[in-house]
Amino acid sequence: MQPQASKPTEWREIDVIYDPETIAGRVRELGAEVTEYYDSGELLLLGTLKGSFMFMADLVRSIARAHQLEFIVAASYGKGVSSSGHVRLLYDPQAVFEGKHVLLIEDIVDSGATLNRLVRLLRTRDPLSLDICTLLHKHLAADLQLEPRFVGFDAPADFLVGYGLDYAERYRHLPFIGIMQEVDG
Ligand code: IMP
Ligand code: MG
Repeated sequence: MQPQASKPTEWREIDVIYDPETIAGRVRELGAEVTEYYDSGELLLLGTLKGSFMFMADLVRSIARAHQLEFIVAASYGKGVSSSGHVRLLYDPQAVFEGKHVLLIEDIVDSGATLNRLVRLLRTRDPLSLDICTLLHKHLAADLQLEPRFVGFDAPADFLVGYGLDYAERYRHLPFIGIMQEVDG
C-alpha cells in the first residue's frame, strides 16, 4: 500500500525539550531546595490546577519535611495559545493560611497575570511567608508582584505542552514537555 500523505500524528506535532528523566532529576533537586529552605514552621504547598497537578505530585515526594497541600483553581487561557489577561478564580480552598509558610506551586509563568492575581489575593490572608515555586519560567513577565524563588527550568517563549500543560485540555498526560508546533494540514 502507498504510504498516506496523512495528517501528522499527535506525537509528531510536538518537539520534546525536557524528557521524563530530565524532569524527574530537576524536580528532585527542587524538592531538596524546598526542604532546605524551610527549616521551621508550618509549610503549606498550594498548587494551581490543573496545570501543576503532575509537578505537585512528583515534587511533594521529594520534600523531606512535614507539609500540607491544597489546590487553587484559576483560569486565564481560553482554548487558545495566548493568555486572555483576565484571570478568573474557579476554586478557592477554605484552608487557613495565616501563620503558615505558603509556597505557591505553578506549572509555568508566562504573562504573569495569573500569579499576580493569586499573590495579591494570598497576601490578604496573612501567611507567615509567601513564595513561588514554578516548574517553568518563560521570563516574559514585566511586572511580577513576586519573583519565583524556585524555578525548575528557564523555558523558551514557545507554547509548551505535556507534564500537566495543555493545549485546549489535550496533552496534559504526556510524561515529557515539548514545544507544540503549528499544525499545517
Ligand atoms: P500567565 O497568567 O500568562 O502567566 O499564564 C499562566 C497559566 O497559563 C499557566 O498556569 C498555564 O496554565 C497557562 N500557560 C501559560 N503558558 C503556557 C504554555 O506554554 N503552555 C500551556 N499552558 C500555558
Ligand atoms: Mg494553569
